[in-house]
Amino acid sequence: MAEETRQKAVRLFFAIWPDKETRTQLGRLTGRLASVCEGRKTKAENIHLTLVFVGEVNASQVDALCRAADEIEGHGVKAFDLVIERICVWKRKNIVYAEINEIPQPLIALVEALQSSLSLAGFSLEERPYKPHITLMRNASCKTLPERAEPMVWRAREWVLVKSDQTSDGPVYTPIGRWFLKG
Ligand code: 2AM
Repeated sequence: MAEETRQKAVRLFFAIWPDKETRTQLGRLTGRLASVCEGRKTKAENIHLTLVFVGEVNASQVDALCRAADEIEGHGVKAFDLVIERICVWKRKNIVYAEINEIPQPLIALVEALQSSLSLAGFSLEERPYKPHITLMRNASCKTLPERAEPMVWRAREWVLVKSDQTSDGPVYTPIGRWFLKG
C-alpha cells in the first residue's frame, strides 16, 4: 500500500448485515413508516445492526482490525436469530428504529468479545453502553407509529466490517471483511 493510501482516514464499523429476505422486509417496513413520519429513510441496502462503531482510523490499521476480529471467530460465538416486532422513536437521536425482542445472549457475547479484542489491539472505543437498534429513519418526526411491525426473524449467521463513505447522495456502506458465526 502506498504511504499516502496508508495514511488515509477511513470510517469503519462492525455490523450484522441482513440477508436478502430480511432486507426486503425491513425496506418495506421503512416505506410504511415514511407514510406517517417525515424524515430521511435508511435505504434498504444500508439497513444493518451495528455491533461496534470503530470510527475513523488510518487505512494502515485495517489489517490490525481484521486480525482482532479473527481472534473472535476462533472463540466460536454461536449463530442467533433476531426477532423484530416493535418500532420505536429515539427522541434524543431523532431516529426511528426497529427494536430487537429479547436480546440474544450470543449477540452480547459477540459485542463484548469484539470490544475487548479491539481494545487489546489498541483501538479506543466509545464507552457508551451498547443499545442494539436498527435505524430505519433519521431526522424523523412522526405523527403516529405502527405499534407492531409484521413480526420478522432475522437469522444472523455472519458479521462484517463496513467502510462508511459520506457522499452527496448519503452514506455508502461497503463491507470489507466478513466472519462467520458457529452453527
Ligand atoms: P445510528 O444508526 O444510531 O446512527 C454507522 O454510522 C453506524 O454506526 C450506524 O448504525 C450508527 O448508529 C452507528 N454508530 C454508533 N456510534 C456512532 C457514532 N458515534 N457516530 C456515528 N455512527 C455511530
